[in-house]
Amino acid sequence: MAKVAIVYHSQQGHTKKVAEAVERGAKKASDEVTLIAVEELGQDAPAWAVLDDADAIIFGAPTYMGSMSAAFKAFAEATVGRWFHRTWQDKLAAGFTTSGSMSGDKLNTLQGLVILSAQHGMIWVSLGLVPPNVFDEHGPKADDINRSGAFLGAMGSSFSVAPEVSPSVGDVKTAEHLGERVATLAKKHVGR
Ligand SMILES: Cc1cc2nc3c(=O)[nH]c(=O)nc-3n(C[C@H](O)[C@H](O)[C@H](O)COP(=O)(O)O)c2cc1C
Repeated sequence: MAKVAIVYHSQQGHTKKVAEAVERGAKKASDEVTLIAVEELGQDAPAWAVLDDADAIIFGAPTYMGSMSAAFKAFAEATVGRWFHRTWQDKLAAGFTTSGSMSGDKLNTLQGLVILSAQHGMIWVSLGLVPPNVFDEHGPKADDINRSGAFLGAMGSSFSVAPEVSPSVGDVKTAEHLGERVATLAKKHVGR
């Protein structure tokens, strides 16, 4: 059984809601899934060992001012020792983000997560979904999976309303899909 860790930052709860959906999805394919908020990762905190032991790490950050939040970036910078020792080399990686607007420059955040994983020598897992309603003049609905039409990772749009109602059902389904996909592929990757 592959071990999957999800590490995220969320100030207002939207990215946390998406992270919990990723966790639910991953649990469909693995019994060893751990959700970690970046606040749990103080120096020498036990949660670091969970990340080091994982076969796949899924990164999640809100998009603030067009890129990953400062708190997530601080976590990324705190991984430099692991970068040096190649601790996460050849683990699977994937990512998700939320932002207020439909675009909000979320792609830049996902690209930052891809580069973080590449710096560590990890193997990036894309979302693996086609956009919904490709030939529909009205476009996707809020409950459509991958309504953002992303490929690199899972996107959620919060529109500055409470996490109880946003990101939408479709964005939550997208996140569940990502978690299940990564856990399934991690099982194949590690061969157990
Ligand atoms: C400092 C700050 C910067 C933000 N910058 C953006 C942005 O560049 N694009 C956008 O669409 N939303 C932006 N937002 C809105 C958040 O991305 C959005 O509310 C997100 O879902 C918050 O995630 P969280 O609840 O997990 O903190 C910003 C919010 C804050 C607080």
